[in-house]
Amino acid sequence: MGFTREDFPPGFLFGAATSAYQIEGTRHGGAGICEWDTFAATPGNVVNAEDGSRGCDHYHRWPEDLDLMRDAGLDAYRFSISWSRVMPEGRGRVNAAGLDFYDRLLDGMVERGLSPWATLYHWELPAALADLGGWRNRDIADWFADYVDVVMRRLGDRIDGAAPINEPWCVAWLSHFIGQHAPGLRDIRATARAMHHVLLGHGRAIQAMRALGQTNLGAVMNLEFAQPADDGPEAAAAARTYDAIYNRWFLGGVLERRYPEEALAGLGPHMPKGWEQDLDLIAAPLDWIGINYYTRKLIAPAPGPWPALREVPGPLPRTDMGWEIYPDGIRHFLKRVNALVPAGTRIYVTENGMAASEPREDLSRIGYLRDHLAALRRAMAEGARLDGYFTWSLLDNYEWSLGYGKRFGLVHVDFDTMERTPKASWHALRAALTPAG
Ligand code: FCB
Repeated sequence: MGFTREDFPPGFLFGAATSAYQIEGTRHGGAGICEWDTFAATPGNVVNAEDGSRGCDHYHRWPEDLDLMRDAGLDAYRFSISWSRVMPEGRGRVNAAGLDFYDRLLDGMVERGLSPWATLYHWELPAALADLGGWRNRDIADWFADYVDVVMRRLGDRIDGAAPINEPWCVAWLSHFIGQHAPGLRDIRATARAMHHVLLGHGRAIQAMRALGQTNLGAVMNLEFAQPADDGPEAAAAARTYDAIYNRWFLGGVLERRYPEEALAGLGPHMPKGWEQDLDLIAAPLDWIGINYYTRKLIAPAPGPWPALREVPGPLPRTDMGWEIYPDGIRHFLKRVNALVPAGTRIYVTENGMAASEPREDLSRIGYLRDHLAALRRAMAEGARLDGYFTWSLLDNYEWSLGYGKRFGLVHVDFDTMERTPKASWHALRAALTPAG
């Protein structure tokens, strides 16, 4: 893997990340219908119309999965709690079996010495709330805070770090403008509302957790490096707009109390009334920031209405997702986030990894992880702070609209038998993290 623990500061956390819908299997334990179930059941949205009903059957196999993390020498587990499993209709009735499941899971982590890091929303919007407009409806911020309160009262005592929402860009832009994720909308007004309400929901959830005395609260953002496709001023402007929509909207809202001009240029007319008054709540202080990083994009101008840009295929080697491999982007973002946060804020990489088709001998994944960790070490040598690194993902799992075909795991999953087999990358990570290997 090209590194050992000694190459990182004492106390540096190594972990793996997963999410509820992608691994648990929703058909057991009384989970309610979520937006992804109905999106997947609509022809054309998901490869083979696959959904999360089976997942990796983590709902039953979690002890084995926690063992796999402990045995790899990992310190921490970033997992998510499903809103529709805990509250099947999104509000009101609590599914006791759902909370009991996470209760057992947390005890299992503690028993194995794995530090629990929870995400409260990794995209299981209860269908009953989608009926009410989902992220387009301002009330979602309060519904979400109520759910977070229920979860934390029961489970918060064992959670070491928590973030309300995984990847707000995906929740808002990818799902309401590009239409690639549930609810599959392509509408600028819906987008503007979701872009704001997702951060309002973040702010309300942080407020609710602070009120309970919950500590070590953060935000997890996916950041994507945008480069102009050519040397002209139009491509430079298009890349700036892409960066504003993808990165600066969320970094700016949470860390600078403002949205970028290049994004407001298009979204401004469609924003909900009085949005400026929410910025104090959105930008309330955090204990840590989590960076999810996978790739870069080359951006060119395009004809047509705002944002008037398009992605251009680049020349670099690609993962099985078709994403270019660009480790220097993670160095860029680590330094950029360092420059934005108040002193003392901890910084983590909360997702980084690749889809690889090799079922067991995943040498490409070992190379990807090695190169990204080397880029992070370079940034640290240049003065950047980094407190931990979580790889995506422990297991091959449900890759959203691409179904089960894209394999991101350190551990192979046979989706017929659910058998787990550690890949070469799991063994390499173990050798890097544990003295005896
Ligand atoms: C991220 C998601 C995660 C997974 C990886 C590949 O955007 O957080 O659920 O799909 O990408």
